[in-house]
Amino acid sequence: MFSLLSSVLAGLALACLVRLTAAFSYVPTGQTVELDGIFYYVPPEAVTNISTFDSLNLAAAGGLVPLTIVSTSDAGYDSRDFANTIAGFSASDDVWSEGFLRAVYIQYTGLPRRSRHEDFAPKFNNVTNGTVYISTSYIANSTAIAPGPYFLSSSGAIHEARRLYSDFAGAFTETLVPKSDQRSYSVLPANIPGQSLAVAVPSRLYFTKTPEKPLAGVRLGVKDIYDVAGVRTSNGNRAWYHLYPAATANALPIQRLVDAGALVVGKMKTSQFANGEQATADWVDYHSPFNPRGDGYQDPSSSSSGPGAGAGSYPWLDLTIGSDTGGSIRGPSQVQGLFGNRPTHGLVALTGVMPLAPELDTAGFLTRDPSLWIAAARELYLDNLTISHSYPTKIKTIGFPKTAKSDGETLLLNLLANITDFLGATVASFNVTTAWAASKPAGADPSLVDLLNITYPIIISQEQIRLVRDSFYADYAAVHDGRRPFVDPAPLTRWAFGASYPPTAIAAANSNRTTFGDWFASEVLVADPTTCSDSLLIYAGSDASINYRNQYLGPPVVPYGFGTSRFSPFWGGPDFVVPRELFFFFPSFLRSLWRYNTV
Ligand SMILES: *[C@@H]1O[C@H](CO)[C@@H](O)[C@H](O)[C@H]1NC(C)=O
Ligand SMILES: *[C@@H]1O[C@H](CO)[C@@H](O)[C@H](O)[C@H]1NC(C)=O
Ligand SMILES: *[C@@H]1O[C@H](CO)[C@@H](O)[C@H](O)[C@H]1NC(C)=O
Ligand SMILES: *[C@@H]1O[C@H](CO)[C@@H](O)[C@H](O)[C@H]1NC(C)=O
Ligand SMILES: *[C@@H]1O[C@H](CO)[C@@H](O)[C@H](O)[C@H]1NC(C)=O
Ligand SMILES: *[C@@H]1O[C@H](CO)[C@@H](O)[C@H](O)[C@H]1NC(C)=O
Ligand SMILES: *[C@@H]1O[C@H](CO)[C@@H](O)[C@H](O)[C@H]1NC(C)=O
Ligand SMILES: *[C@@H]1O[C@H](CO)[C@@H](O)[C@H](O)[C@H]1NC(C)=O
Ligand SMILES: *[C@@H]1O[C@H](CO)[C@@H](O)[C@H](O)[C@H]1NC(C)=O
Repeated sequence: MFSLLSSVLAGLALACLVRLTAAFSYVPTGQTVELDGIFYYVPPEAVTNISTFDSLNLAAAGGLVPLTIVSTSDAGYDSRDFANTIAGFSASDDVWSEGFLRAVYIQYTGLPRRSRHEDFAPKFNNVTNGTVYISTSYIANSTAIAPGPYFLSSSGAIHEARRLYSDFAGAFTETLVPKSDQRSYSVLPANIPGQSLAVAVPSRLYFTKTPEKPLAGVRLGVKDIYDVAGVRTSNGNRAWYHLYPAATANALPIQRLVDAGALVVGKMKTSQFANGEQATADWVDYHSPFNPRGDGYQDPSSSSSGPGAGAGSYPWLDLTIGSDTGGSIRGPSQVQGLFGNRPTHGLVALTGVMPLAPELDTAGFLTRDPSLWIAAARELYLDNLTISHSYPTKIKTIGFPKTAKSDGETLLLNLLANITDFLGATVASFNVTTAWAASKPAGADPSLVDLLNITYPIIISQEQIRLVRDSFYADYAAVHDGRRPFVDPAPLTRWAFGASYPPTAIAAANSNRTTFGDWFASEVLVADPTTCSDSLLIYAGSDASINYRNQYLGPPVVPYGFGTSRFSPFWGGPDFVVPRELFFFFPSFLRSLWRYNTV
């Protein structure tokens, strides 16, 4: 009886304890350390454990010791080889530094030796100049730890090193680290001096690009209209960010890049709901990022402003993904000296991406590196990407001067001469107004401006009202006593314009768009099975003239009108921005910067 009672009591006590335990959740989120003046984030998960250093009592303050891991399959590997390895680390990686030479772990992955005397292990086991060297006997390649900088805990756990950089250009909305499931992300729990977010990047030495993982280790910034699993999307609106839960899956384009090995390091600023905003007054919810060009106070253009400012400012950021509906990749690329592409419409489905207008929205990259652009485009667009090595031999130009009257025009004409030489092409100037007059479809409006003046603003505003605004307003009202969320002036202006037309206007707009697009495809850039199109159309997309962020401008306006940058959205074909990087070395050219577009 007594023992039964005591076990009942014990059971109750256990139940209490269980309930208490379940009442709180404890999640280790890693730590930050400073090594020779550089800050690092150390994730809580260990890559692996090694016991080899156990007896050496190495643990530094905080229990972590900076460690360099090296692999060699050469049984004759010696200190000179080691010096070469280290020189290679230093040259190819921004995360490794000499501070990681506190301890060195050399893995021998060559053929296993038969005799113990021939074993590699004892070769490096010593302490030289304060560095503790430990080398292993044979380790299979499959179990060897990737080379590079690590932190070793007193219990033998090996943690990756992620260098922390300051987002001084204000390009990010939230910076991320992978969760231990390696399929989703959480917000980086770290901060460093600089009055900005910290961004964490892992060592480049951990990754090897392979045919299966051609983007292994590529550091990717994501415009904050793409869902990233585990974190919230803002679409550039604070009310939206707080209203909706974290995404449970990556947007399709992001998943393709992650599958190929890319590492998402953060979400990047978008002007609100991917509408056009000018620095700084239009950017009410989020502060416009800083364009690194010139004196650092130029407007970064929009809407992929964060991807543009980040790719332009940070050598440690490899690639950013933006979206282009009416110029949202091309604008930021042009004014920040980047390669940027608006692809052919429909090349990749935009599942998990906020729409502006599905019939015009596209996903593309902003990057400093055209080779990386090709590798990433292959993964994003898969079989829909065509890469041709046969080029058109006809060039059409828009707005090129006959003779150069400024440094900028000199560069423009030199570039044209260079491309003409390379292609062995003929050049003719193109005027869309006269071409339309000469070959427009029967019955079409003789004036392109009359046909297309309100086409773009009708499509984007009526689509976004239907697909984004209405459900947002309803969902917000449902949990906020019927109130409206705050929305920046630029999207409000556009939505008000769309709402002032009957819902049938969008059908007329799309019909006008198609009238122009079909004509363009049959008369201006005609598809060609070997050269993509029969000619190349080149224009100066922006003269990137001075456009300070500290100007008091008027309220935002509806994007009426028609011009060259609308060809690609209405036609559906690609428009690629090519920078002349040379400009950055010649400050005198800053007044007359040009960026080049080829359609
Ligand atoms: C490292 O050792 C700890 C403690 O023994 C263990 O919990 C953990 O799973 C190990 N980690 C790895 C990656 O092997
Ligand atoms: C391990 O990989 C290296 C480099 O790829 C190779 O040279 C070496 O032969 C491999 N070791 C074994 C035992 O296969
Ligand atoms: C430690 O080992 C390396 C590699 O064998 C050797 O070059 C170096 O002279 C050794 N140092 C000492 C102090 O034994
Ligand atoms: C140890 O440090 C001294 C002084 O910096 C340097 O001259 C010497 O080459 C170092 N020895 C080794 C084995 O790295
Ligand atoms: C290729 O483009 C088509 C047409 O837009 C689209 O339906 C398809 O999903 C794309 N294929 C891939 C692999 O993304
Ligand atoms: C490009 O044009 C410039 C100026 O005309 C010329 O000096 C240069 O050699 C050209 N380069 C190529 C690759 O044609
Ligand atoms: C194109 O042609 C129209 C009509 O001839 C003319 O008014 C316009 O100035 C031309 N545009 C350019 C950029 O030359
Ligand atoms: C469509 O084109 C017609 C004829 O040019 C024009 O009157 C109308 O305003 C256009 N509508 C839209 C929505 O683009
Ligand atoms: C374009 O449409 C707007 C709104 O109807 C009008 O105010 C503007 O004058 C038009 N622009 C042209 C060039 O027709």
